[in-house]
Amino acid sequence: MSLVLFISTCKLADTRNKTYLIHKTITTMSLRLGDIAPDFTADTTQGTINFHEWIGDSWALLFSHPADFTPVCTTELGKTALLNGEFTKRGVKTIAVSVDDLASHNKWIPDIEEVNGVTMNFPIIADENRTVATLYDMIHPNASEKATVRSVFIIGPDKKIKLTLTYPASTGRNFQEILRVIDSLQLTANYQVATPADWKEGEDVIITPAVKTEDAAAKFPKGFTIVKPYLRTTPQPNK
Ligand code: BEZ
Repeated sequence: MSLVLFISTCKLADTRNKTYLIHKTITTMSLRLGDIAPDFTADTTQGTINFHEWIGDSWALLFSHPADFTPVCTTELGKTALLNGEFTKRGVKTIAVSVDDLASHNKWIPDIEEVNGVTMNFPIIADENRTVATLYDMIHPNASEKATVRSVFIIGPDKKIKLTLTYPASTGRNFQEILRVIDSLQLTANYQVATPADWKEGEDVIITPAVKTEDAAAKFPKGFTIVKPYLRTTPQPNK
């Protein structure tokens, strides 16, 4: 986790017209791949959770949306609920966050359910104090001072950040892409492979450069193809 400190100085005048110099420290935490996902305790629509305990041995998808009762967010949360079976199959728990309070979330849920024909089946964090939004740097002031952008964090069972994505408020996320990337993350966590452009579950994968060609046959018994000495492909090993 990297820490950037900005010290800014501003002038304040009081009623006697004396001027004071005020030093303000603004702290920005920038989260990077491989960092431990910051832990927190928060109220959610499914009760109070401690984030790391809630993740347990699962993977987690933490995603922010700008505000309750907004159109794009209504479709995104509905889509996530509809795909619950796909996330569960992959051992992934989903959790959303916005800077609205619990009462607002609970009023909004029936709309999400009605519009998308689904029952909400994952928690939404009430982050009215912006604790989570600040920890995860989800407010980008040059986009909006008040609302969170559409951040995505995929976190492994080791609580480390495996992937981040940031979308603006005006663009809803592609949840098929999120599932696709989870498939790649889970596969590449377990085998010495990488996934090529536009790869989908079941397609051939790339043997990582760390594997010597003379060792590849033993490691990849389904066989492999040498396209270039540095680009060797093999059938997906866990299929
Ligand atoms: C929405 O979630 O629908 C939305 C939020 C802010 C700006 C535009 C759309």
